[in-house]
Amino acid sequence: MIEGHKEIDAPAGVPVWDVDPYDPALLADPLDYYAELRSKGPFAYLPRYSVLACGRYEETKEVFSDWERFVSSRGVGLQDFSLEEPWRPPSIVLEVDPPDHTKARAVIERALSPRAVRELGESFRRDAEKLVDELLEKGTFEAVEELAETYPTTVFPDAVGLGKSDRRKLVDYGEMVFNALGPDNELRRNAMAKGPGVVPWIMEQCKRENLKPDGFGATIYAASDTGEITEEEAGLLVRSMLSAGVDTTVSVLGSAVWCLANNPDQFRVLKDNRALSRWAFEETLRYTSPIHTFCRTANVDTEVGGIKIVEGAKILCVLGSANLDESHWPGADSFDIERRPSDHLALGVGIHGCVGQNVARAEVDAVLTAIANKVGSIEPAGEPIWRPNNSVHTLDRLPVTFKGK
Ligand code: HEM
Repeated sequence: MIEGHKEIDAPAGVPVWDVDPYDPALLADPLDYYAELRSKGPFAYLPRYSVLACGRYEETKEVFSDWERFVSSRGVGLQDFSLEEPWRPPSIVLEVDPPDHTKARAVIERALSPRAVRELGESFRRDAEKLVDELLEKGTFEAVEELAETYPTTVFPDAVGLGKSDRRKLVDYGEMVFNALGPDNELRRNAMAKGPGVVPWIMEQCKRENLKPDGFGATIYAASDTGEITEEEAGLLVRSMLSAGVDTTVSVLGSAVWCLANNPDQFRVLKDNRALSRWAFEETLRYTSPIHTFCRTANVDTEVGGIKIVEGAKILCVLGSANLDESHWPGADSFDIERRPSDHLALGVGIHGCVGQNVARAEVDAVLTAIANKVGSIEPAGEPIWRPNNSVHTLDRLPVTFKGK
């Protein structure tokens, strides 16, 4: 065993590459790693963790979406749950396969339905406009803390129906969940050390008696009244929303502002056609991939792209790399909101495709539309700093200036 999964040999025809994809310096600046990974072929064997990594579009999509051969129930991080106990009870939607997945997915999908999300549109827009007005007033500000973290931790807990929000605890919990998918490195250890101050608070918020009667959480608990799921499972589904719905949205909001600040021509295109805000969201996802890597485990001996893969092999699906694959996206390294990249992999693909994407889309659309309506120009006001995380690609600091019209 290595990092909680089975050790494998390099399959025939797969280059061995001595790289640490969880090195904080690489995580903060992953573009060279992505390019080299794609240049190696469909897969590279990384001896440091005894895993296969794939970063070309076609193979990444194949592995990530084929739930029968490449399962999620053995964990979507390095650890294989069939060999080692995970740090918390597994997610009953992300870390399971059909038929269990189908049941839980139906319940959470209902709670996060387009209709339920549409009803929030007006309050999302109001909060976005208020925040953008305040930031315009300030002029220069730190866009991670004051915008990317502030907005989702204001509107999302309310949408779930949480009695109270705590920005730091929500962001730190996501940081734990996503770092936990990597190896036992310093990033993981530092994030897990926050556990005692964060996990009990999160679990408390997921309880039925602490949720308001009109949020996504209440809809999920209603499914326990009809016996569709148990009350304990309802609590775990609320936990899934809090695990997956905060840091990802924080990442895409910070990255969207970063992209627009660095590409003033694209901000102009958006201002001239506000309807493109939806595509600015998708292109930001393609260009920056908030989830840079999730894993799958081969559940059978199989073959992909002519490469033999043994049962038990852990495969790093490097979504950040696949979304920059030139053979799928001509001019992949430029940010172009008119590209309309509807088949990027940043929200996953297949049965596990992001169930919260309507919520994320509505949040980001509200913020980008408010910015496009009110802000004349976005200018960098200092060096951006990225925050290394074993699964999430996200900014740590982004000083910018909003100028009025
Ligand atoms: C732009 C922001 C977001 C990104 C980039 C993102 C990314 C992803 C990805 C890549 C997956 C697929 C995981 C896999 O196949 O292993 C996924 C699944 C999931 N996401 Fe999101 N997500 C975002 C926002 C949200 C939000 C706001 C919520 C909650 C409201 C959410 C809840 C979930 C859940 C529960 C799953 C598991 C679905 C399943 O396994 O069937 N996500 N997300």
